[in-house]
Amino acid sequence: MKKPIALLLALAMTVSLAACGSTPEESGTSSDSNATSQESGSENQESDASTPDSDSGDADNQDGFTTAVEGKLTMATNAAFPPYEYMEGSNIVGIDAEIAAAIAGKLGLELQIDDMEFDSITEAIKSGKADVGLAGMTVTPDRQEEVNFTVSYATGVQVVIVTEDSAITSVDDLFAEGASHVIGVQRNTTGDIYTTDDIEKKGLGSIDRYSKGADAVQALKTGKVDCVVIDNEPAKSFVAEVEGLKILETEYITEDYAAAMSKDNTALYEAVNTALEELLADGTIQSIIDKYIAAE
Ligand code: ARG
Repeated sequence: MKKPIALLLALAMTVSLAACGSTPEESGTSSDSNATSQESGSENQESDASTPDSDSGDADNQDGFTTAVEGKLTMATNAAFPPYEYMEGSNIVGIDAEIAAAIAGKLGLELQIDDMEFDSITEAIKSGKADVGLAGMTVTPDRQEEVNFTVSYATGVQVVIVTEDSAITSVDDLFAEGASHVIGVQRNTTGDIYTTDDIEKKGLGSIDRYSKGADAVQALKTGKVDCVVIDNEPAKSFVAEVEGLKILETEYITEDYAAAMSKDNTALYEAVNTALEELLADGTIQSIIDKYIAAE
């Protein structure tokens, strides 16, 4: 039995490979039921986080940090990843949008959300165009070379979506000798990175990379790929929307989500990280997550 080595290296703390018997909750689809509007998320680009004590001016100087745009916290994301970030009309909503709004509120900044391809987020952070990348982004050693990650605020699991009648019945089928599946992923996500290492580079199949997870799922529906490897929560919401698909019970790997920030802006990093720690400690983050994800 071959446990994919790249996985073990990538996230040494993970122990939840195939052994994990937890049942995926097919019913935990929250993307439709969470239309409850959020004061911040629903205003999207200009969600108004409270202003600092405006008397003595400028929160930036006061706290010693600078932001990409003065007075704003600019969040880079890829709003095609429900329930973490997705479009509701022309607004970007979801767990990450609300977390960013809460952080911005603590720092006396207005939240601005910039939507982009997932694989552009790191560059936006590094170049200083955006202050914080919040995108259900997994902490990996390679990414840690590029950006600073805050404390983790959520856990994700890479799962496998197949058609209901699929011959693939367990994640191990993907690594089996002689396997030759076509696997759909969102480009440059961990699903892409892991399957590239564990499957494509070993000659056990090929990877079709899509700009959005939902496009990979459509490719599965139309038979262009044999399965999709993607994070569990978006998987649930995609499967709820497309008939004839299911999520395998065996999981690929468990990961930690965190916000990505520039290595150069340490004052802002400290401020955001501290704000996030406080929001974790006082239960705000959990209540945001609970609002979007049905309890297991
Ligand atoms: N957790 C995965 C990763 O970090 C996928 C994240 C995709 N996020 C998104 N907003 N599209 O690679």
